[in-house]
Amino acid sequence: MHRINTKIFRNILQDHSEPLETSEILKTGGLVVFPTETVYGLGANALDSSAVDKIFKAKGRPGDNPLIVHLYDLTQISTVVSHIPQVALKLFETFSPGPLTIVLPKSKNLPGNVTAGLPTVAVRVPSHPIARLLLKESGLPIAAPSANRSGRPSPTTFAMALEEMDGRVDAIIDGGDSEVGLESTVISVSEKEIRILRPGAVTEEMLKTAVGPEMIITAAAQDKSRPASPGMKYTHYKPKAEVYLCRDIQSAAFDSRFSHLTLGILTLDKTFPMAHGSMQIIEFSDLDDYAKGLYKAMIELDRGGCAVILAQAVEEKGIGRAIMNRLTRASGGKEIK
Ligand code: TXA
Ligand code: MG
Repeated sequence: MHRINTKIFRNILQDHSEPLETSEILKTGGLVVFPTETVYGLGANALDSSAVDKIFKAKGRPGDNPLIVHLYDLTQISTVVSHIPQVALKLFETFSPGPLTIVLPKSKNLPGNVTAGLPTVAVRVPSHPIARLLLKESGLPIAAPSANRSGRPSPTTFAMALEEMDGRVDAIIDGGDSEVGLESTVISVSEKEIRILRPGAVTEEMLKTAVGPEMIITAAAQDKSRPASPGMKYTHYKPKAEVYLCRDIQSAAFDSRFSHLTLGILTLDKTFPMAHGSMQIIEFSDLDDYAKGLYKAMIELDRGGCAVILAQAVEEKGIGRAIMNRLTRASGGKEIK
């Protein structure tokens, strides 16, 4: 790819010219990497199809994987969506701004490449103050996938965003570390049912509480041959090291088959023994901390030269479902019981 000169913005919430300059880049068809509460996004004007094309090029993303459109609030939604069902409205009112994305029928004037030719568009209202500033200042709907090159973990820190996108975009905004650390919950809705296409920080339990017991909530099968969401058929979140999901992290870590390797460990286990040999241990304090630090940890262990990463499995409830979903994909389903 032809390298472009990437401008870095570090002070957007305090400065007067930075909001203007970054939104001007968007308005004139450029690409801006910006922080959100989930992960960093790679944004372009959703109504400008040639700007949207640049997103696919910068990421090396397959053209059949649609993007999420970010809005400042729901007053703008009719520019991208043709109809909004009651359930969706209620869910947006409950969880937005925040990490919930809803797939809705697309409007005619939204360019086809945003949705990869699908009749539906994924929409979310982010809560991060910098994302909100950019949306408000530009007045645009912003199409933005995660700001990683295709197939790599999503950036959750400025350093990771820079590593992924320097030289490929017009601007990168420094917003520190992402609060959530995993991508938004993606759902589709019908009158009776909510389908979770990608689990995230708005959990199944939270959705259930919001809509009441009459609505059925289903988790889409993570089946690559019949994907409910185009993104699910691609290998995602993949570090260079080979990842194994481990039910019992201590016994896996000291299994003789790994004894000759540089081993990375991701664990919640406070009784995990001190590192020895070439073992590199990253310990998380709780599930939220695991979610927040997961991608950064995978990159760090890669950089540390780990051939194998052993990641502790967690219970599939709350944010645990999102963690397990990403770990299952990073490991390609490889598991040590
Ligand atoms: O937290 C997030 O959602 C981040 C930040 C930047 O907002 N964005 C993000 O975008 O994760 P991306 O492109 O990496 O993931 C979007 C997912 C993909 O799995 C895609 O297939 C799915 O949403 N998706 C988008 N439009 C869809 C549609 N019309 N129907 C079904 N799935 C859709
Ligand atoms: Mg992504």
